[in-house]
Amino acid sequence: MRILLINGPNLNLLGQREPGIYGSTTLQAIEADLQVKSKELGLELECFQSNFEGALVETVQQAIGQFDGILINAGAYTHTSIALRDALISCSIPYVELHLSNTHSREPFRHQSYISDRAIGVVSGFGAMSYTLAMQGLCDYLLSQSKVN
Ligand code: DQA
Repeated sequence: MRILLINGPNLNLLGQREPGIYGSTTLQAIEADLQVKSKELGLELECFQSNFEGALVETVQQAIGQFDGILINAGAYTHTSIALRDALISCSIPYVELHLSNTHSREPFRHQSYISDRAIGVVSGFGAMSYTLAMQGLCDYLLSQSKVN
């Protein structure tokens, strides 16, 4: 199974960006750790990060027919981007929304997500571990679907 990990704006700054909220692990370290875990689970993982909304939309569009599942931390676009929502729905690839921080314990504008209601699930608040938990959840979901179909 092929999984695409998408990270949105400012997540390239993990490690130095507000470590009290997001921790001290860099995005490169998170991706490297996830590559190891994905091999253990028998998955193929590709990683993409961009600060640009259009690049994220294009990456979701290009995933059609290429990937079985998407893990997405859309950063601030979670709370603003109807375009990203539309792309995720249009591509019909199952996705898990994830966040390092618990967005519901933060400012009210972070409580709104344009992508949660169509996600398989949402993982939020476990720091870098959110990525691992989200991948485990996505993998279990895809395996259960392949048994049903
Ligand atoms: C975030 C939460 C968002 O509200 C914020 O804009 C981010 C990171 C998280 O991983 O906790 O950039 O998605």
